[in-house]
Amino acid sequence: MRKFFIAGNWKMNKGLESAMSLSNKINEYAENESKIDIGVFPPYIYLQGMKNTFKNIIIGSQNIFFKQEGAYTGEISPKMLDSIDVEWTIIGHSERRNIFNESEEWVNKKVKFALNNHMKAIVCIGEKLEERKKGYTLEKISMQVKNLFYEISKEKAKNITLAYEPIWAIGTGETASPEDADEVHEKIREVVSNIYDSDFAEKLRIQYGGSVKPHNAEELLKKDNIDGALIGGASLEADSFLKICDIAKKLQ
Ligand code: PGA
Repeated sequence: MRKFFIAGNWKMNKGLESAMSLSNKINEYAENESKIDIGVFPPYIYLQGMKNTFKNIIIGSQNIFFKQEGAYTGEISPKMLDSIDVEWTIIGHSERRNIFNESEEWVNKKVKFALNNHMKAIVCIGEKLEERKKGYTLEKISMQVKNLFYEISKEKAKNITLAYEPIWAIGTGETASPEDADEVHEKIREVVSNIYDSDFAEKLRIQYGGSVKPHNAEELLKKDNIDGALIGGASLEADSFLKICDIAKKLQ
């Protein structure tokens, strides 16, 4: 029932030439694609160019700030993104949380601000290795889910896609087993169902992220509660990214 959403998070990678070449290949692939949603989240400087050339692809920023304008050096606002017709953003990626010290409160503020300004967001959650080892995963995830949806109406929350990304699996080659990932996704749905209702939770898309590659994508995407992938490393090459899209298409 839920449509797969395969998204590439390019992070701080690629020069102009390589960004153009990769985006052209994805564009060609996605032109007549309607079975699955395909998204690309490039560095800010490529957004406008890609928005102008992409036809059938979700384009979004990797972050936003919770103010529209002002003295916030280095930040970017929903209003600016709206001026180039970009309506999607990632919020709360673990690199933002851990390297740039974004708090749970900030993530919630950004989610609220994005949704109040007509944006759609992929919001990331995930536990650290020591939390998993201590058996604290489900508790941590539940806490993050409650915090990110704090004071957000059900109507607005419909514009959220969640991404479960165990931090120890990001960029490390380690992946959560499909069973472990599915268990967490199921828990997320339960928590969300308690916040809103079961119908909302059933419709919510939850991507898995953390070293998703062509060789492990099928096992992950086959799981009932996994509705797509947020892909870092493997989204930087057309071959691996589009192979994962093929797998999603086959399973849809
Ligand atoms: P990875 O990154 O696929 O390189 O592990 C995923 C992410 O951080 O979104």
